[in-house]
Amino acid sequence: MAQNDHHHQGGLMALLGAMAFVFIFFFYIVFVNKGVTLDEKVTDPAPAGAVKFDLASVKEPWLPNEQVAAEGQKLFKQNCALCHGEKGDLVGGLPNARNLVEGQWKQGNGLIAHFKVLQNGIQGTQMASFKQTLKPMERWAVLNYINTITNNKSTDKAEDIAKFATTAD
Ligand code: HEC
Repeated sequence: MAQNDHHHQGGLMALLGAMAFVFIFFFYIVFVNKGVTLDEKVTDPAPAGAVKFDLASVKEPWLPNEQVAAEGQKLFKQNCALCHGEKGDLVGGLPNARNLVEGQWKQGNGLIAHFKVLQNGIQGTQMASFKQTLKPMERWAVLNYINTITNNKSTDKAEDIAKFATTAD
């Protein structure tokens, strides 16, 4: 019966097609997709071990310290980069601001002198006081960062800075 043969042929094609589909699907799952696991991790926003650095826990934030300098860099970008440039070299900043990388200081060398600049600003210039904007430890962190980028680094003694810091607000 010709009609039946035709019918069977169609069924065979459907069967082969289904088998091919199953084979390809199986191949994909096992080899391409590396299998299906039931314990796939949902993206974890706070990876274990990434404890947030707490600047307030640092007793002497003027001492060289990578984490303090990293915090200082963030604060620098938010508060100082507009005028001093993203890298403190005046690129993208104000031409009449100080190039902090060159470090031709006019208010005195060193961290104590710079801290006073941040406390009081520089009269008659655009360099304002940051007393209301940044906490003392945040100002130390910014200066910690600046001391890592400047060619004219602080030579203030750690004990002198510590003594000054007890009186500095
Ligand atoms: C609105 C612009 C502006 C911002 C913002 C600014 N500065 Fe300044 N800064 C200046 C200018 C202008 C001078 C140069 C003043 C002068 O003519 O002596 C200066 C000078 C300085 C000096 C040089 C002091 C010296 O002894 O010569 C330091 C250090 C300094 N700024 C640090 C900072 C830090 C740190 C911040 C951010 C917390 C900051 N500045 C934000 C404009 C700015």
